[in-house]
Amino acid sequence: MNMSTDLLERLTGILGPAAIITGGPDLEPYSVDWRKIFPGKPACVVRPSSTGQVAQIVQVCREAGVAVVPQGGNTGLAGGAVPDASGTQVVLSLTRMAAIREVDPIGMTIEAEAGCILKVAQDAAATAGRLLPISLAAEGSATIGGVVAANAGGVNVLRYGMTRNLVLGLEVVLSDGTIANGLRRLRKDNAGYDWKQLFIGSEGTLGIVTAAVLRLLPRPKYSVTALTSVPDPDAALRLLELAQDDLGDQVSAFELISRTSLQLVEKHAGLKPPIAEGEWFVLIEAASSLAGLREAAETMLGSAFEREIALDGVIAESGAQAAQLWALREHVTESEAREGKSAKHDVSVPLLAIRRFLEEAGQALAAGAPGTRVNAFGHLGDGNIHYNVLVEAGHDAAIINRIVHDVVASYGGSISAEHGIGQYRVGELVRYRSSVEMELVRKLKRALDPEGLLNPGKVLSL
Ligand code: FAD
Ligand code: MLT
Ligand code: ZN
Repeated sequence: MNMSTDLLERLTGILGPAAIITGGPDLEPYSVDWRKIFPGKPACVVRPSSTGQVAQIVQVCREAGVAVVPQGGNTGLAGGAVPDASGTQVVLSLTRMAAIREVDPIGMTIEAEAGCILKVAQDAAATAGRLLPISLAAEGSATIGGVVAANAGGVNVLRYGMTRNLVLGLEVVLSDGTIANGLRRLRKDNAGYDWKQLFIGSEGTLGIVTAAVLRLLPRPKYSVTALTSVPDPDAALRLLELAQDDLGDQVSAFELISRTSLQLVEKHAGLKPPIAEGEWFVLIEAASSLAGLREAAETMLGSAFEREIALDGVIAESGAQAAQLWALREHVTESEAREGKSAKHDVSVPLLAIRRFLEEAGQALAAGAPGTRVNAFGHLGDGNIHYNVLVEAGHDAAIINRIVHDVVASYGGSISAEHGIGQYRVGELVRYRSSVEMELVRKLKRALDPEGLLNPGKVLSL
């Protein structure tokens, strides 16, 4: 521990000793990120149970000139939730603030505290006959605060948008310890600046999210899940077009999975795909409250086979089978981590450029980093490919990042579609965003966190 006794005494006065971890093995889960590539060293971990306590913690840390690193489920993939190695930063874990305050099935809203696990919130919405459509493989550990702070994407963005589209209200503790309560439930609210947008996706660098009101949707009664192999990524896009023509906005997920991804899942999670042949696969889900969805999906897939934009496929016959198909997709990230280190690229490009991006990135890697293996998969319907390169001895991850991101930039793409910048991509952001945009971002940071004590070193360097 590397902090003054005075600050520790003040924090203990606010929280009591049981809610502060100052050393020993209990610090470990808060110190390093999910990928275990950013080992940090917290001065201590504080675990408040109320918004008032969060406000006081931020205030006393500010008075002591000590940085605060907010942390939810610590499932982020960009190293945003862990402290640096200085031993001076306080990790503020929100996980004890986990209450669901209200589910309103008529107003179609849920209000939850920041530390509420995403899956718990999804289940509460389902119990009320409603749908909270944010869905990602880490939903059993990720928190509402983390999802909001990261503006998480996931598998349902195609239909329901990013987290930002679902946030109606926020409660935020500002850098001076003031509580900004904007927990409104309104669908329409143009009364002045929509300030909550600044905090969504700010990765804990502008304020601490303590609670959120999220929009819910009607819970579809029927769903259909199919896995098909496709000749190539262009055919996958034609299949997306066909699915959207025939099933309309009922298409909720359209995920691209490469053969390498499925091989990793088979090797490390022991899950075997029901389709043996193919280089590229698509997992499609559609959902509706009206009957006839399955028939429409079967007709659509039949016509895809006729046109040879799908080669082989299965439609799940039950909820259990649908879960098995989803498990193939959901185990990709974990299986990749078990395989070893990877240089992750969470990129997006315009949909029509996806095939060319994949080809050019492959060629550029073959020339600049020969011998690399690519694990490509992702949210094809959003133009978001996780173009992850498995890093072997002798490979330089920074060179690999540069090679891939340069190709992304040549298509007007983004170097982070959904995972954020964290500490992983701070240098890359400066390279690919204009100086005018970066200065605008710095101005916002200076205005909201003048002392630079909220999650310093993440997203941007001042
Ligand atoms: P953390 O990891 O704890 O924090 C994430 C960032 O938010 C950090 O910068 C942290 O400082 C900040 N933060 C956390 N809580 C707060 C708060 N209350 N107030 C202010 N700042 C806060 N992400 C996607 O977008 N789409 C996916 O499909 C996806 N799939 C994933 C699959 C796996 C297997 C894993 C491990 C991760 C995946 N992720 C995905 C990344 C991650 O799950 C999401 O970013 C998630 O939103 C992080 O939530 P968390 O509670 O774990 O946040
Ligand atoms: C996912 O979609 O599973 C994660 O966002 C991707 C990743 O591991 O890169
Ligand atoms: Zn993803």
